[in-house]
Amino acid sequence: MGKCYPTVSEEYKTAIDKARRKLRGLIAEKNCAPLMLRIAWHSAGTYDTKTKTGGPFGTMRCPAEQAHGANNGLDIAVRLLEPIKQQFPILSYADFYQLAGVVAVEITGGPDVPFHPGRKDAPEPPPEGRLPDATKGCDHLRDVFCKTMGLSDKDIVTLSGGHTLGRCHKERSGFEGPWTPNPLIFDNSYFTVLLGGDQEGLLMLPSDKALLDDPVFRPLVEKYAADEDAFFADYAESHMKLSELGFAEA
Ligand code: HEM
Repeated sequence: MGKCYPTVSEEYKTAIDKARRKLRGLIAEKNCAPLMLRIAWHSAGTYDTKTKTGGPFGTMRCPAEQAHGANNGLDIAVRLLEPIKQQFPILSYADFYQLAGVVAVEITGGPDVPFHPGRKDAPEPPPEGRLPDATKGCDHLRDVFCKTMGLSDKDIVTLSGGHTLGRCHKERSGFEGPWTPNPLIFDNSYFTVLLGGDQEGLLMLPSDKALLDDPVFRPLVEKYAADEDAFFADYAESHMKLSELGFAEA
């Protein structure tokens, strides 16, 4: 469980701080926080505890991984990020993509997610097919998040709250529409909307609705709908875990 973070140079730390500022600017200019959170999540979410492959190690830079069906649209994120990445050759793509996810949450009003640098870029993408299927339910979510990635039931609920940002695009996933009325604000509205039932113009995926039918997940949905501070505290912890899968393991 314990993490043993690598030491990085002062020069590297300075580059992280500068890249953070550039990312704030990019996200403010392009309103692309949702896409930045999604690229960070799809990078990290391929981690497999058994084989210790996949995970947040910069492989989304590879066209082969961008071409995975689940990653439709993330080539746009890679393209938006590349001019900033070019300014910081010292940084790994691994750290840079995870930093983009952390900044996306911060800049839209969400919690500060602790960030530890030092991830190394892996040479090759993981195999396709590790990310969750939006048409499936709780057993599938537990297979992907708990059995494969090594996260917890609570992490499934907090991280599903990432859908407070952004929307589905018909041409990318086959689904269409935002989860909440304010898709560029990070708040607890994903949970209040989820509990409120179907609403005109908003969408919940089958994998979102499944959280309501499970005896462990539902009480957490209710808790986060009632208490945004509790959501932010737990989300920050889960997002950090996600961003560090397979990284700095003692
Ligand atoms: C629980 C399993 C999950 C499933 C099945 C799922 C599925 C999806 C689908 C189908 C889309 C629509 C993509 C598009 O059409 O553009 C999407 C978008 C998104 N997902 Fe998830 N997701 C899951 C978990 C997460 C997690 C853990 C996060 C982050 C913590 C996240 C963050 C996002 C964001 C921010 C978007 C919006 C992207 C945009 O607006 O361009 N998702 N997700």
